[in-house]
Amino acid sequence: MSRSLSAEPDPPEGVDPEGVPAGDPADGATITPYRDGPLIVRGNFRLVDQDGAEIDPGRETIALCRCGKSGIKPFCDGSHKRAGFSAPSAPSRPRPAARLRRAGRRED
Ligand code: FES
Repeated sequence: MSRSLSAEPDPPEGVDPEGVPAGDPADGATITPYRDGPLIVRGNFRLVDQDGAEIDPGRETIALCRCGKSGIKPFCDGSHKRAGFSAPSAPSRPRPAARLRRAGRRED
């Protein structure tokens, strides 16, 4: 089996990457956490390092590593599969700040 070193990940089984709405570019980027995989970024975005220097994404849709095992960080290289990375697509529980907002105790 060959290993892809592209920034475009293999979609998880049962997931149609084309089925994820890209949204209107005027609305900005859509970031989709893939189950057991990377963050897929589509739309109108800029990728910069922590000093603000532009990182050429090389394509319009990119996959950002969230497992920490990629050899081409910040991009995904598919290493998450070999590493057995496991994470849900959606939060398994709300963030504490989200709970506070819903309770009306905090406004931002
Ligand atoms: S999420 Fe794919 S290599 Fe880390």
